[in-house]
Amino acid sequence: TGRCVVAVDGPSGSGKSTVSRRLAAGIDARYLDTGAMYRAVTWAVLRSGVDPADAEAVAKVAAEVELRIGTDPQGYGVTVDGVAVDAPIRGPEVTAAVSAVAAVPAVRALLVARQREMITNAGRIVVEGRDIGSVVAPDAELKVYLTASETARAQRRSAQDAADVAATAADLARRDRLDSTRKADPLQQTADAVVLDTTELGIDEVVARLRELLTERG
Ligand code: C5P
Repeated sequence: TGRCVVAVDGPSGSGKSTVSRRLAAGIDARYLDTGAMYRAVTWAVLRSGVDPADAEAVAKVAAEVELRIGTDPQGYGVTVDGVAVDAPIRGPEVTAAVSAVAAVPAVRALLVARQREMITNAGRIVVEGRDIGSVVAPDAELKVYLTASETARAQRRSAQDAADVAATAADLARRDRLDSTRKADPLQQTADAVVLDTTELGIDEVVARLRELLTERG
């Protein structure tokens, strides 16, 4: 029960959240959803009436808000200045603006520092995002990169959000492009990551495979 950091990266709809939460609960670790942190800052940006494309104004909002997030894999809360934002950060307005906010280097610097602090305090934790293995926790004990076919990803996300599959597919493609091509900490697969395709494997098999890998690595 010493330090154990598992980094889970991949595009939207790859099964990251479900896999990460189940793995964390199964190995008695904490869980950090870094996407929720970028979403919470985006909610604050929209609330303040700032244009998500105005990097300077966005960075100012990010520096001023008080963001809190839990790390319980069975259910965590996110608050911005004391307001619970768990529901609105999953809404279409935030989803449409989050990639622009997450591309601002000053926002990333701030959130990456918070994430590293939480990881150090937790000791045993599963962390999911886009840049965990590459930037946030390059020394993680296990790095996982999850993928899935575009069709499978769009189907999962549209089922989760009760949205139209075609519209969801278009939104996923747009966010993937922005997240992979931005200059600051883009989504990337590190050379030392275990790559698993959840189209073929299914969530439970992926979780079982990761537990095997952790056991093998001691
Ligand atoms: O994972 P989720 O879809 O909630 O992430 C929302 C957005 O937050 C992503 O599309 C990406 O723009 C950003 N993000 C990021 N770095 C992370 C996690 C999320 O840039 N580590």
